[in-house]
Amino acid sequence: MIDVILGLQWGDEGKGKIVDFFAPQYDIIARFQGGPNAGHTLYVNGEKIVLHQIPSGVFHDHTINLIGNGVVLDAVTLKRECEAVARFGADVRKNMFISKRTHLILPTHRALDKASEMQKGDGKIGSTLKGIGPAYMDKTGRNGLRVGDLLDKSFTTNYIKLRLKHQRMLDSYGFNEDISAWEEEFFEAVDFLRTLNIVDGEYFINEKMAAGKKVLAEGAQGSMLDIDFGTFPFVTSSNTITAGVMSGLGVAPQKVRDVIGITKAYCTRVGSGPFPTELHDETGEALRKAGNEFGATTGRPRRCGWIDLVALNYACMINGVTQVVMTKADVLDQFSPLQVCTGYKVNGEETNQIPFQMTRVNIEPVYASFPGWNTPTDGCKTAADLPESMKTYISFINEKIGVPVKWVSNGPGRDQIVTL
Ligand code: GDP
Ligand code: IMO
Ligand code: MG
Repeated sequence: MIDVILGLQWGDEGKGKIVDFFAPQYDIIARFQGGPNAGHTLYVNGEKIVLHQIPSGVFHDHTINLIGNGVVLDAVTLKRECEAVARFGADVRKNMFISKRTHLILPTHRALDKASEMQKGDGKIGSTLKGIGPAYMDKTGRNGLRVGDLLDKSFTTNYIKLRLKHQRMLDSYGFNEDISAWEEEFFEAVDFLRTLNIVDGEYFINEKMAAGKKVLAEGAQGSMLDIDFGTFPFVTSSNTITAGVMSGLGVAPQKVRDVIGITKAYCTRVGSGPFPTELHDETGEALRKAGNEFGATTGRPRRCGWIDLVALNYACMINGVTQVVMTKADVLDQFSPLQVCTGYKVNGEETNQIPFQMTRVNIEPVYASFPGWNTPTDGCKTAADLPESMKTYISFINEKIGVPVKWVSNGPGRDQIVTL
């Protein structure tokens, strides 16, 4: 049996915190896609830590953490992360496993990401520059190197071959930065990676499930950044949706039980691309401040706006969401009125569907307005403690998306979550 937790917006919905909250109910937490572009924030004993590639169950002793084949792995950042979680008492040699089929991000992938973004100029994706796009291109282009290849003598020869190919591509971009320091770090990190638990991930997870173990798949990014269904081309390079769980871990669809979708009580996006409910005014600025909306991976300010039910409905449909967690509800404490986007006006006509190419059409959001609650909610423990106007806001969203909001997160702390 496998449950899924994933983001329903453009990432940073609070997946890390929520996975950490649910982790005690599971035996295995498995990342199925993405890589160090993710930044999942957790509070362990009141102290903040940001995880990029290590699954968010790592701080629970009994929980096994699996990095699945759908992930693209940067050995350098993984080594740093392993050292960081060790300082918090986690022992990755005991409770973390990596699939042999996981593709490696090479230093030249990072260089190619940077070169490609520079060439795009104003049209850039605003990628995290972690080499994600180029690494997935080498996967689908059937050139990439995988974690299992590290155990083979031919690794260095194959690395050199691919590196030469990348050099020709970098030359054609006119990219001439010296990346020898990156390569030095990479080979050091690869030696470290070889010492970790490297397994046949698909057998590993299926054998555990056959023995009755419960798995939670942890998504990275968000549904609107999905390579197929997101706001292409302003997306990431993996399937961030439920479908990605099957190919990213090697599990059959019948094994999937609940799909827990996470949405903020409002909406954010980092990087370029369409964002119909974005606020360019002082309310947007105030949301950024109240929600501390700065990227956990890159530190970039996140673009902020109102919750978008057109996008949320779409994400629930694509993912088969069974329950929703609404995070950062406390951030709206001081905002009134609140707007909820219920439709888009595209070229004057109202629709409740996501247009094929959101960048080419003019989208005007249609809003329903709600009074705010103007009271602090970060101390609420039970549904009865929540203000009536927050309940009204949530009921409206429930009704519009047809999936129940079952939990409301009201602060970054582990225990700041209310079950409805
Ligand atoms: P992720 O990528 O989906 O794991 O989310 P990030 O960690 O990138 O961003 C979420 C941010 O919001 C982090 O700084 C969290 O500590 C914080 N956060 C999560 N849930 C809540 C919440 O309910 N209220 C508040 N105020 N902050 C939250
Ligand atoms: P988590 O897991 C928010 C965005 C980037 C850029 C686009 C492509 O923390 O929610 P990439 O480096 O993947 O090629 O960048 O996707 N992006 C994210 N935005 N949260 C993330 O991860 C993201 N990972 C990538 O900003 O717009
Ligand atoms: Mg994040």
